[in-house]
Amino acid sequence: MTKKAKYIPYKTEKYSSTELIEKSEKYFQEINKRRSVRDFSDKEVPKEVIENILKTAGSAPSGAHKQPWTFCVISNAELKSKIRKLAEEEEYENYHGRMSDSWKADLKDFGTDHIKEFLEIAPYIIVVFKKVFDLDEGDNKSQNYYVNESVGIACGFLIAAIHQAGLVTLTHTPSPMGFLQKALSRPKNEKAFLLLPVGYPAKDCKVPDLKRKDLNEISFWF
Ligand SMILES: Cc1cc2nc3c(=O)[nH]c(=O)nc-3n(C[C@H](O)[C@H](O)[C@H](O)COP(=O)(O)O)c2cc1C
Repeated sequence: MTKKAKYIPYKTEKYSSTELIEKSEKYFQEINKRRSVRDFSDKEVPKEVIENILKTAGSAPSGAHKQPWTFCVISNAELKSKIRKLAEEEEYENYHGRMSDSWKADLKDFGTDHIKEFLEIAPYIIVVFKKVFDLDEGDNKSQNYYVNESVGIACGFLIAAIHQAGLVTLTHTPSPMGFLQKALSRPKNEKAFLLLPVGYPAKDCKVPDLKRKDLNEISFWF
C-alpha cells in the first residue's frame, strides 16, 4: 500500500521495567482520586488552564484523524444562566416522567434532581459537540468515522486533564441536549455530546462513597 502521509521519526523515552511499574502505579493513584463533583466554588480559573485542557482533549486519537469534535467554552454569566434554565427544563421532564423507575432507583444514592445550580456557579462550562459529518464552506458534506468512539475518547482525555490540573468536573448529560446546539448557534453537523462544568469544588463539597470494581471484575486475561 502506498503511504500518502509524510512519515516522521517517532521515539519514546526509555524506562526500565521498575520505572514503568512505578510510573503506571503513580498515574493510577492520581487518576483514581478523580470524582464527579456536583458542588462547585465560583472561584475563577485562569483561561490558560482551560486552553491547555482543551489542547489535551484535542490530542486524542480519532477515526481517520477526522478530529470530529468542537468544544464550546462558556464563562459569560448570562449564557450560563440561560443554559441552566434550559437544562433544568429538560431535566424536570426526565425526573418527572421520562426516566424509568429503575433509572430513578439507580440515581437515588446520588441525590440528584432537576436543579442544576452548578451550571451558574462553576466559572466555566464546556459543551462538547460531536461532528456527525464535516461541512465545507460550500455546505458540502463529508463523512466522519467512529464519531462516538472518537469523541468519547477525547472526553476521557479532557476529564483526566481537568483532574490533573487540580480542578473538578461533572460529566453531565441534560438530555435531550438539542437545546445546546440552538443556544450556542452551532451548525447542523454538530450535536451536543457532553456538558462539563469546570472549576474548584465548593468548600464543604461531599461526594458519594462509591466503590470501584476490582481489576478481577473488569478484566479477563488470555
Ligand atoms: C456518560 C455519563 C453521563 C453522566 N451524566 C450525569 C448527569 O447527567 N448528572 C450527574 O449528576 N452525573 C452524571 N454522570 C456522572 C456519574 O453519575 C458518575 O460518573 C458515577 O456516579 C461515578 O462517580 P465518579 O465519577 O465520582 O467516579 C454521568 C457519567 C457519565 C459517564
